Amino acid sequence: MRTIETLGDLRGKRVLVRSDFNVPLKDGVITDDGRIRAALPTLNTLLEAGAKVVIMAHMGRPKGEVNPAFSLAPVAQRLGELVDTKVTLAGDVTGESAKATVDALEDGEIALLENVRFDPRETSKVDEEREELAREFAALGDVFVSDGFGVVHRKQASVYDIAKLVPSASGLLVLKEIDSLRRATDNPERPYAVVLGGSKVSDKLGVIANLLTKADMLFIGGGMAYTFLAAKGYSVGKSLLEEDQIETVKGYIAEAAERGVDLVLPVDTLVAPEFAADAPATVVPVDAIPADQMGLDIGPESQKLFADKLSTAKTVAWNGPMGVFEFDTFSGGTRAVAEALSSGDMFSVIGGGDSAAAVRLLGFDEATFSHISTGGGASLELLEGKVLPGIAVLED
Ligand code: 3PG
Repeated sequence: MRTIETLGDLRGKRVLVRSDFNVPLKDGVITDDGRIRAALPTLNTLLEAGAKVVIMAHMGRPKGEVNPAFSLAPVAQRLGELVDTKVTLAGDVTGESAKATVDALEDGEIALLENVRFDPRETSKVDEEREELAREFAALGDVFVSDGFGVVHRKQASVYDIAKLVPSASGLLVLKEIDSLRRATDNPERPYAVVLGGSKVSDKLGVIANLLTKADMLFIGGGMAYTFLAAKGYSVGKSLLEEDQIETVKGYIAEAAERGVDLVLPVDTLVAPEFAADAPATVVPVDAIPADQMGLDIGPESQKLFADKLSTAKTVAWNGPMGVFEFDTFSGGTRAVAEALSSGDMFSVIGGGDSAAAVRLLGFDEATFSHISTGGGASLELLEGKVLPGIAVLED
């Protein structure tokens, strides 16, 4: 992929950068600024080179309408605290305010355009509409650096179409993400283990199908484990269950056996009568889940089983929490997997917004993992073996 160096001398040039600043907010306050911090190496490189940096980013899914609840204002403020230069938030995406903000930039300063998804053309399925917006972006910059790894699976104006209009390159974050995720998927050092969690099997069908052909061990936890347990004939009480996926999952279980993939499911689970932080929790074996209870985490036996097996792996890719880690009582499974990866002698990649946030929330030192991806859907699609439009366009 083309790197920033291929863009030549950037002093005084207007460099459009696509970042993924889609960070979690609670009451307007950022609860995890990991994605903003991950953007700093590229931004600082450009600022030190004397560029005028124009950032395009989105927040949430405002569906093409201006909505102050999705403003990038909290991001502009946090970014301003993290960089050593002035950050100005434009009042619109490519309108008069954006033009004036970019025109007023000095070398080594940053303009952040307002949420690009306030413009319906950003996410339009009609090529001409996206291209029209991309031309408006192109009028605000001389070159383009793609660094929003979390959005490279999106064929959107500020990710894909812009790269065709001006000289473009991948930023340092995108390069690092691709290197790490490819190391964890193409020719991984074996034993190769994949840990999948999160609520829905249906979100991970493509990943499971692809990984069954590659992994030596496949661990299933989180809400999706209950559909696997149901496919094995267990009653799962009030736990999350996707009945319409049971047959597909039966096929995966059979395929894993045929291919000799060690499919590791929970053997016990922490159940509660309701989904609540203070719900009374009980440990039960997976063949004795009471009809009026729901599983909210893998149990202690499963934690030990997962951790012991994981410690034998040389490469681990992990996507999705093992339980409701936001509630302390139900965070043990996610903590056990994080602990196994953090202390193990392996190449470990954590993908998916939730598992990355969990690792930080649970207080793990990020440096003890080989790579924590900033991508949710993007890292999943790489694990699925898909071609991502925002990457392919940089390789053309
Ligand atoms: C993410 O949060 O995974 C990225 O920012 C992409 O967001 P999207 O799924 O709304 O495109």
